Amino acid sequence: MITQYSYGTPVETFAVVEDVPAGHQLTHFTLESGPSLTFTCPLAATDLVYGLGETMRGVNKRGGRYISFNYDDPKHRDDMPSMYGAHNLLVVDGETPFGAFFDTPAKVVFDVDSKGNGLLNVSCESPDLRLYLVEGSSAYDVVKQFLGIIGRSFLPPLWAFGYGQSRWGYKTEKDISRVASKHRDAGIPLDYLCMDIDYMDRYIDFTVNRRRFPDLAGYTARMKEQGIHLVPIVDAGIKIEPGNAVYDEGIQNDYFCKNREEKNFQAEVWPGMTHFPDFLQEKVRHWFGDCYQFYTSQGLEGFWNDMNEPAIFSTEYRSKLAKPDVARGDPDQPDRHIADFKDFFHRLDDGRQMSNYEVHNLYGAMMTRASGEGLNRLLDRRYLLFSRSSYIGAHRYGGIWTGDNASTWHMLRQNVYHMPSLNMCGFLYSGADTGGFGGNTNRELLLRWLAVSVFTPLMRNHTAILTRHQECYRFRDPEDFRTIISLRYRLLPYLYSEFMKAALRQDMFIRPLAFDYPEDQRVRKIEDQLVVGGNVMIAPVLEKGAKGRTVYLPEPMTEVRYNGEFSCSDVEAGERMVDVPLNEVVFYIKRGTLVPAGKAVSCTAELNLEDVVLLGSGTVYEQYVDDGSTKECGLDRCVIRRKEG
Ligand code: NOJ
Repeated sequence: MITQYSYGTPVETFAVVEDVPAGHQLTHFTLESGPSLTFTCPLAATDLVYGLGETMRGVNKRGGRYISFNYDDPKHRDDMPSMYGAHNLLVVDGETPFGAFFDTPAKVVFDVDSKGNGLLNVSCESPDLRLYLVEGSSAYDVVKQFLGIIGRSFLPPLWAFGYGQSRWGYKTEKDISRVASKHRDAGIPLDYLCMDIDYMDRYIDFTVNRRRFPDLAGYTARMKEQGIHLVPIVDAGIKIEPGNAVYDEGIQNDYFCKNREEKNFQAEVWPGMTHFPDFLQEKVRHWFGDCYQFYTSQGLEGFWNDMNEPAIFSTEYRSKLAKPDVARGDPDQPDRHIADFKDFFHRLDDGRQMSNYEVHNLYGAMMTRASGEGLNRLLDRRYLLFSRSSYIGAHRYGGIWTGDNASTWHMLRQNVYHMPSLNMCGFLYSGADTGGFGGNTNRELLLRWLAVSVFTPLMRNHTAILTRHQECYRFRDPEDFRTIISLRYRLLPYLYSEFMKAALRQDMFIRPLAFDYPEDQRVRKIEDQLVVGGNVMIAPVLEKGAKGRTVYLPEPMTEVRYNGEFSCSDVEAGERMVDVPLNEVVFYIKRGTLVPAGKAVSCTAELNLEDVVLLGSGTVYEQYVDDGSTKECGLDRCVIRRKEG
């Protein structure tokens, strides 16, 4: 059961798309109202608290303090309060499970019993918000009801489930072609290559550096013939450059955010001084979405939207070197240039003018919405889109990646924790920079990371400029990398099917173990094993130098070891020590269920979703199958596969 409580004059966030009845008397929380609203709720000693999507720390958020205020900060330490997205859902898993979604684009501070006094305290800076309370029979039931009101996940094309390679630093057609052919030569599967800011003319959106890419349309077509899609980056700011068509249109139609003097606000990002499109206006979104025609007309069908918190280097009011203005800033987040966000303004479709600070967390989400809706108009098939910044609701238009992580074991573990939390908030299509963005990766870390990414919908190796080259073929024994990535492709008949079924049913794709085994008290503490789709449990190796790990099985399962071939054995419930060499992956299939596995291929274009063997001890599998790009997706596309004898 879901009820909503409305306070003040909430800003339309578009997060919830179903009608939800109004509640009369607030339950679960006590409310203190003043200039801000503070909701407090006691927690029982054994309650777990799930949710909060893209935040640091474990899957159980208890013991931490988190702030929804989207920000570009690569220091992903456990005590970093906010990341790039705002996902204001909490799920309290206790005697009477319930969820609470604080639907406000302004700053929210979640104190999830950080002082150990048994209190959950949510402080919403703006008094204008909607609170949705969800009551259910279990934490999982609460999440499913919540997913039911925020609308269906974005449905990417099949190729978006392939392996992608990226690096900030590929500059020319030649650089990209070399990476493509090195993958093909090493037999490492590949479906897409990302083009970071260097493909553009001076980092200007909707332009191409013609010296580096003389014929992008022709090049895109030639790459597609090899089964490789190109995926360009698009940043939020539009360079101030009269004569540039997109800039001129933005000026003529008054599409940009305003400064304190009602002129177009100026902020420095990669291309120099830019204006920010006012994505909170419908007409601006429509215009910006149409701008993607620049790319789609050249055959491009996949994009990543970046710098959309928005990230700002300096502004017309603050030079790059200026110390943050703490007085006008935020004592919670003194180094976050909060003042910049108070310096520019949106004109909302409801007639209000509000500073970016007040509606901050919607900016990236509305950019995603603009692009997603535009791409949907421009293309007759499904597109790939993932964004850095997000708010719940943006999951209907694109996926997300978790930003500028680093090549550390800690970040690998965080990737595992993020996946179920993001799924609870609707972001099924997500993943991290595999191998790590900042710093130098190493062979062992990358192999272990790939073994996790095999199971995350977005599987992209990406790293920063000036870091060690991180393409798999650069390392000793590239065949080991080939083996791990080939597992992804062999499991695609399952992973794609389970993703599409989860999305179409408005369910989660990746879950904490506790959601599938609520009766088993022991799994409530296990955060490094996850359920992927209906039938698979993963228990990845996350420790440096480890030869394997201890795995807990809540029920008897089929243990599958993959080293280029599958070998299956039935194993009992309980704890077991498992050896996992670097070039192998071990995963588990729930007893009585099946996993369809296909042939090893070098890209999804070669994949036949129907040509499968059925692994596991079940008898029937319901497989979602389509051509990988149709917009006509429905559960009626499921076919029944039976395992003989
Ligand atoms: C920041 C993004 O998070 C990163 O992935 C990208 O490589 C750089 N911007 C450069 O565009």
